[in-house]
Amino acid sequence: MGKNLSIATILLLLVLASTKAQQVFDVKSYGAQPNADITQALTKAWKAACAVAGSKVVISAGVYKLGFVNLLGPCKGAIEFNLQGTLQAPLDVASLNGKDGWVVFEHIDGLTVSGGGVFDGKGQQAWQKNKCDKDKNCNVLPINIRFDKVTNSIVQDITSKDSKYFHINLLQCTKLQFQHVTITAPANSPNTDGIHVGHSSQITITNANIGTGDDCISFGAGAQDITVNQVTCGPGHGISVGSLGKYQNEEPVSGIRVTGATLSNTDNGVRIKTWPASSSGAATDIHFEDVVMNNVANPIIIDQNYCPNSQCSNQSPSKVKISNVSFKKISGSSSTQEAVNLICSKSVPCQQVVLSDIDLTYKGSGGSATSTCTNVQPAVSGKLNPPACANKN
Ligand SMILES: *[C@@H]1O[C@H](CO)[C@@H](O)[C@H](O)[C@H]1NC(C)=O
Repeated sequence: MGKNLSIATILLLLVLASTKAQQVFDVKSYGAQPNADITQALTKAWKAACAVAGSKVVISAGVYKLGFVNLLGPCKGAIEFNLQGTLQAPLDVASLNGKDGWVVFEHIDGLTVSGGGVFDGKGQQAWQKNKCDKDKNCNVLPINIRFDKVTNSIVQDITSKDSKYFHINLLQCTKLQFQHVTITAPANSPNTDGIHVGHSSQITITNANIGTGDDCISFGAGAQDITVNQVTCGPGHGISVGSLGKYQNEEPVSGIRVTGATLSNTDNGVRIKTWPASSSGAATDIHFEDVVMNNVANPIIIDQNYCPNSQCSNQSPSKVKISNVSFKKISGSSSTQEAVNLICSKSVPCQQVVLSDIDLTYKGSGGSATSTCTNVQPAVSGKLNPPACANKN
């Protein structure tokens, strides 16, 4: 029996080798069982898979508990993380030991994350203890999924749910694609941003469906050459460049293209925000096109006086220069009268701003939708409802 089995195994390996199939590393073979903690099993399966070229870690259907994991490369070759089941983070923040992430993919070239599974951050307790709205030096909370130095990779058909903090964060990634990613958290969950892109380039996000308590997708310092296509957002705070200018020597944001987005019941639509009294910086080549707003509070907004919860003592103007920004084919309904708000810095006025084919309606009391321009003279074309810069400050 044992002899037959080993002959069968050798034959199987020969077949695998000859077809160059992915070698499968199922966490079950490393001791994982449904409803139990699989931190050790996953760590071992990942290590084994990473040491082989062309491998696949599989977590099959079922619910599993998982503590902090650092899925670290570089690996021997391409590697797939195939999650079919649901991973649940510990409820208690303390058990993640002050880590800034829960599942961390780091230093990997040629990663595929797939499988239709769920990363459930179990954030309910952490949200209640989150003091970040009152204290900007609040304790770090773990991000559901971090991608640090991940290159030439694809993330598709996964769900991130109820993260304790941001859902997905990119740091120093290049050529990373997101397809069919779903992100959900309640409207009142603090700092649960959907996807935050920082210090990364050549990123595409396609067909995402994101509803959270904070920004849908946000672009921080060093986000360059990013394409967002066919994304739905809501609830949450909308699609946002920034906030910028909070720290010294921030890398510029450039080359952001958002096309075909639908935002529903969000606090903002498409936004660029910078802190007043800021360090210098730049945001350029930023384009929003074909965006539908459903009952959105600030559909089009540049806010260079961004200062939530009065955290700024000095109100001198922002030094972040905003240029080459277009808002084209943006239609739908605004839930506030001020549908278009372009509030640029007095010290570095916005340049090359374009408004084209804007049709935003407001149905509340006080008249139709308005637009305000401060320290900016946008170039306009096509239909403009509201008329551009009807209120000049
Ligand atoms: C402005 O943006 C467009 C579209 O991305 C780009 O082709 C052009 O080079 C940019 N212009 C400047 C001056 O940066």
